[in-house]
Amino acid sequence: MLRPTLVATALLALLTPSHCWWRNGHLITARIAYDHLLTTNPSIIAKAEHMLAGLSVFTTFEGDYPFVECATFADEIKDEGFEDQSHWHYVDTPLFAEGYSAQVYPEIYNVTWSISEMVTYLSKAQSPQNDPSVSRKLGEGFNLRLLIHYVGDVHQPLHTVSRYSKEHPQNDQGGNLFELQEMEEQIDELHALWDSVVTTFSHDIIPPFSPQDWLYIGQASANITSLYPLTSFPDIDAPHTEWAKEGYELARDYVYAGIVEGGMPSEEYLEQGKRVAWRQLAKGGYRLASLLEKMWTHKQQETVFLN
Ligand SMILES: *[C@@H]1O[C@H](CO)[C@@H](O)[C@H](O)[C@H]1NC(C)=O
Ligand SMILES: *[C@@H]1O[C@H](CO)[C@@H](O)[C@H](O)[C@H]1NC(C)=O
Repeated sequence: MLRPTLVATALLALLTPSHCWWRNGHLITARIAYDHLLTTNPSIIAKAEHMLAGLSVFTTFEGDYPFVECATFADEIKDEGFEDQSHWHYVDTPLFAEGYSAQVYPEIYNVTWSISEMVTYLSKAQSPQNDPSVSRKLGEGFNLRLLIHYVGDVHQPLHTVSRYSKEHPQNDQGGNLFELQEMEEQIDELHALWDSVVTTFSHDIIPPFSPQDWLYIGQASANITSLYPLTSFPDIDAPHTEWAKEGYELARDYVYAGIVEGGMPSEEYLEQGKRVAWRQLAKGGYRLASLLEKMWTHKQQETVFLN
């Protein structure tokens, strides 16, 4: 890739503040859900893939592994100009630097809201009466792709806060404006550091997957779940309205702790950050699996609907 000039980089950063794990974080989250469902409830994967097929002609990112490959769809369409849903990826809960405060109003169209919307839509066996303009098939394909992405996003702690301080009285845009010395290409601010899973998965795989890509994402997921198995989480079933609060606490206690703006993160910070980020990927994956199961298993009519 050509290296843009400094000015171009600055402009690019202004125009497109990043608001997501980079691709790998999303692909790994979806893969953890996929591998889990494959052993516990494979009919959920079949149902999801059936729904995803509805919109697949409109994406070039999906091949043989749509459940996982589609995890980046919500970012791909944002990059193509579908900006309307950009604020559905995060929630800016205010986090105040010590000794600083400001009046901040809630933003109702945030990631907690968007997950609720997608779950409501996808839980219904019929199209909502008030929306005849979108066919059920396209609606399901769209909502499920976004849901798989947003469940990943809400587990990136910097998607759940924005920090207000003397340096950033208008907030730091979820760490996007919290500059660091450049550690690796594109890792020169706090949000990017966390999007790269604290540098551990900074080289993005771009779907559709080759068999090697599938293997790599599978190994990454297995490495993470062997350290953080489902049994290590007592709170997987916490309602999704609570998930962002956990992110807020992690941001306060780990993401912004022990790091100085304009500086270079210490080894200790990176080690601890990696543990927090890996744990969040595992949690996001298990929760995605559990959410889909809850949405789709208990209803009798689903069998009818599938046929
Ligand atoms: C996020 O959205 C929900 C639902 O619209 C709302 O109740 C909540 O106040 C919002 N949170 C923030 C921090 O803006
Ligand atoms: C998984 O862990 C093994 C053993 O530590 C390591 O060799 C491998 O590179 C890891 N794979 C990924 C994709 O993280």
